[in-house]
Amino acid sequence: MPVAGGGLEGVVASPSAISFVDGQAGKLLYRGYSIQDLAQHSTFEEVCWLLWHGELPSPKEVEELRARLDHEAVLPPEVLQVLRVVAKKAEPMDAGRTALSTLGCVTRLPPQPSRDANLGLAVQLVARTPVIVGAYHRLRQGLEPVPPKPGVSVAENLLRMVTGADPGPQAVRAMDVALVLHADHEFNASTFTARIVASTLSDMTAAATAALAALKGPLHGGANTAVMASLREIGTPDKVEPWVKAQLAAHRRVFGFGHRVYKTTDPRALVLRGLSEAVAREKGEPKWFDISTRMQEAMFREKGLYPNVDFYSASLYHVMGIPDDLFTLLFAVSRMSGWTAHVLEQLGDNRLIRPRADYTGPRERPYPAARA
Ligand code: CMC
Repeated sequence: MPVAGGGLEGVVASPSAISFVDGQAGKLLYRGYSIQDLAQHSTFEEVCWLLWHGELPSPKEVEELRARLDHEAVLPPEVLQVLRVVAKKAEPMDAGRTALSTLGCVTRLPPQPSRDANLGLAVQLVARTPVIVGAYHRLRQGLEPVPPKPGVSVAENLLRMVTGADPGPQAVRAMDVALVLHADHEFNASTFTARIVASTLSDMTAAATAALAALKGPLHGGANTAVMASLREIGTPDKVEPWVKAQLAAHRRVFGFGHRVYKTTDPRALVLRGLSEAVAREKGEPKWFDISTRMQEAMFREKGLYPNVDFYSASLYHVMGIPDDLFTLLFAVSRMSGWTAHVLEQLGDNRLIRPRADYTGPRERPYPAARA
């Protein structure tokens, strides 16, 4: 039996028709459409539909989806109650995971839901995750949650519920594009986690909860918060060069750089870089973008590494007024669409995911007589 390399590098786990990553050419497609086209022309709601159904929605379909998202954007009282208890102590990703898990506890499901029932759950999860993020952030500040506003996009509601203010159109557009860019990425660690959980015929919310737990780590989604910590530590553009050299000399990872699949620039980072620059200039706060561009140059020069999706999202979210430690939850709001699409696909042609280990422990040996 062939043995996979460390971290399953290069292993093709199963067919999937949802997204395609060309790591050499720096391309990402959702259902065949390039991420650049989708970022420019589609909304997050349209991308959710595309990921779930395989085609872009008609205007009527997207209106129906928006109405369903509005309808579902409400938390069961138990979830709110749990958030009230944990918000002041819990880290954001832990609070998000606990809230999702609670949602799963109070959602009654038939033993093996139909595809339609699971699709309904997918809509519910995408609608409710931003409400969880907003409620958690308000409650931890001792404030009451801001309820979602009907008739506006997920991006606008997310910003309203987190900041408590009406966001301007540029911020809404930037958030919407960020949601489009983070929505899916083939068999990344959190998505694969979701598929493994789904393959046991556990449920959609359990799969999403496990996926969110996997996203937390700084080698995956947690990198965006870690990037902001680096930018703050560096402080000014002139300190970038010595900081990068010192990190690399100490064999420390520079978060927001490198990727298992991309061997060139991550196409999502290119779009985010443009957004980060535009929002920074508009807000008159170019410092973080300037530090980021110098880091990009230094990392390429010193290590030949390119920025990934988590790099420019950090400076972008920061100038949009989002607290550093919420960045990864924002990633989860978007990736919920991808996780749920992958669960639907997995269940459509399910077989338990159960690889083998390359056993390296001792071979069979006699039990010590003295202990027998
Ligand atoms: N900074 C410094 N060195 C790095 C980095 C980095 N960001 N990324 C890779 N390397 C080095 C690593 O030290 C190793 O060097 P050596 O061979 O000398 O020991 C070599 O490159 C290969 O690293 P690896 O960890 O075996 O490669 P991988 O394919 O497992 O790494 C990665 C992928 C994303 C975990 C890694 O690039 C990394 O740790 N990046 C920083 C964390 C990060 O930004 N994560 C977000 C990933 S993209 C979006 C997402 O999934 O959320």
